[in-house]
Amino acid sequence: MANQTKYPSASIATTTKVVLPNDTNTLGKLFGGALMAWIDEIAAVAAFRHSGRVAVTAAINNVSFSKQIDLGAIVTLSAKVSRAFNSSMEVIIDVTVEDRVTGEQDLSNQAILTFVAVDQNGRSIAVPEITPETEEDQARYDAALRRRQLSLVIAGRMKAEDATELRAIFKA
Ligand SMILES: CC(C)(COP(=O)(O)OP(=O)(O)OC[C@H]1O[C@@H](n2cnc3c(N)ncnc32)[C@H](O)[C@@H]1OP(=O)(O)O)[C@@H](O)C(=O)NCCC(=O)NCCS
Repeated sequence: MANQTKYPSASIATTTKVVLPNDTNTLGKLFGGALMAWIDEIAAVAAFRHSGRVAVTAAINNVSFSKQIDLGAIVTLSAKVSRAFNSSMEVIIDVTVEDRVTGEQDLSNQAILTFVAVDQNGRSIAVPEITPETEEDQARYDAALRRRQLSLVIAGRMKAEDATELRAIFKA
């Protein structure tokens, strides 16, 4: 399994939701927690499609709530594995809101999660590698290593001095 390689597109998982009153705060805006649950669910599907295994959420690397989402909005989440390491996979989820008149999709939020493929006993298990297909895939693939090191340093699983790729984050 570890020597196999797959394209990011093979892992794509999408879902479309309508924001209902139960999902909103008193201002009629989508709760961040509700959006996070949708993100986690669709990201798990992408991780499953890449690995063919049960995959658990190991870390939430980044979530940006850039724009408020209104009650009644049509929200589409699209998840794709950007890079696989040994047993872990980085999944990027783009969240768009549909313009009801034009049908155009406006990117409102983005999240980056790390999933780990596990066996029947919950132990981590190797997954196929990723071969980027597009320029965007390649950029995300390259940046994933820096994000992994940052996540591992924050989690206390890697010493800062060993995080050689992190310096690239601070380059102009
Ligand atoms: C995630 C989990 C399987 C890792 O177990 P572990 O014993 O630490 O396993 P390993 O040491 O083999 O690490 C597995 C992978 O996780 C990665 N990992 C663990 N924590 C991480 C973090 N905070 N950020 C990024 N990667 C992380 C490791 O780097 C390793 O990656 P690699 O195999 O690609 O090199 C385990 O901690 C777990 O089951 N956690 C609970 C998950 C869960 O319940 N999620 C919510 C419900 S789905």
